[in-house]
Amino acid sequence: MTQLDQHVLDEHSPKGTALITGASTGIGAVYADRLARRGYDLILVARDVARLEALAHRLRREYGRTVTVLPADLTDPAQLATVTAKIEAERDLTLLVNNAGMSLSGTLTTSPLADVARLIALNVTAPTLLARAAGLALSRRGGGAIINIASVLALAPELIDGTYSATKAFILNLSHGLSHELADKGVHVQAVPPGATRTEIWERSGKDVNAFPPEMIMEVDDLVDAALVGFDRGEKVTIPPLQDPRDWLEMERLRLGLASQLSRREVSPLYA
Ligand SMILES: NC(=O)c1ccc[n+]([C@@H]2O[C@H](COP(=O)([O-])OP(=O)(O)OC[C@H]3O[C@@H](n4cnc5c(N)ncnc54)[C@H](OP(=O)(O)O)[C@@H]3O)[C@@H](O)[C@H]2O)c1
Repeated sequence: MTQLDQHVLDEHSPKGTALITGASTGIGAVYADRLARRGYDLILVARDVARLEALAHRLRREYGRTVTVLPADLTDPAQLATVTAKIEAERDLTLLVNNAGMSLSGTLTTSPLADVARLIALNVTAPTLLARAAGLALSRRGGGAIINIASVLALAPELIDGTYSATKAFILNLSHGLSHELADKGVHVQAVPPGATRTEIWERSGKDVNAFPPEMIMEVDDLVDAALVGFDRGEKVTIPPLQDPRDWLEMERLRLGLASQLSRREVSPLYA
C-alpha cells in the first residue's frame, strides 16, 4: 500500500461518533462537514431542527455517514440533561465539539439581566456539564477527545465586551485544567480560540462584522480547517490567526512559572 493509499484510508476510516453542539450553522456546521468527511458519524445539536435536518441529509448523502439530529436548547436544564444523557449512553462516542455559544449586544451593565443569564447558561454552564459528561464517559471507555471553542477575546476583555470575554476565559481555563486532569486517561482536550470569524454570531448580537477591516476577519472554513490541523498535531490550544507563536508561548511559560510564587505563608513585602 502506498503512503497516499494509507492517507486516504486514514482520512475516511470509521472514527466513532462526534457530538457537535451549535451544529446548525457557522463554525459547528463546518466541523460537522469536516468530521463527516474524516469518517466520523455525527450527533448534531442545536435548536433549529429544519437546519439540522438539512445538514444531516446532505452529510448522509455526501459522505455516507450516520448522522443523528438531537434538537436542544442548551440554556434549558432539562434539554441540556438530554444531551449529557446522550453522551453517557452513546457507546461509540469518541469526540465532543463544545461549540454552541452566543455573545451580547451590550455589555454587563447595559444588557438585560435575562440576556446575561442566558449567556452564562450557554457559554459556561452547558459546555462545562457536557465536558464533564464526555470526560467521564471517554475516560471510562479508554480515550477520545474534547474540543472546546473559546475566543481570542478570552485574552482581551477590554476589546469588545468583558462579559463574553469572561465566559471564553472560563472555557480556556476549563480546557487547561481538563487537559491536565484527563491526560493519563487517553482523553485529549483542545481549546480553540478563534479571532473574528464570518458567521451569524455577529448579526445575532446586533453587530456588523463588516465594520472590521477585512484583513481582521477569517472565513469560517479556513478557521475550522486550521483548528483541525492543530487537533491532528495534538495541540492543547490552537489559535488559527496567530502568525507568530513566540509571545503566546512566552506568556504560557510565564503563567506556568508564576505558580511557585502564588501561595506563601509570608505576606509579600509589597503589602507589609
Ligand atoms: N464567529 C466569531 O467571530 C467567533 C469568534 C470567537 C469565538 N466564537 C465562538 O464560536 C462558537 C460558534 O459560534 P459561531 O460564530 O459559529 O456562531 P453562530 O453562527 O451564531 O452559531 C452558533 C450556533 O450555536 C447554536 N446555538 C445558539 N444558541 C443555542 C442554544 N440556546 N442552544 C443550543 N444551541 C444554540 C446555534 O444554533 P440554533 O440557533 O439553531 O440553536 C448555532 O448553531 C461560539 O462558542 C462562539 O462564541 C466565534
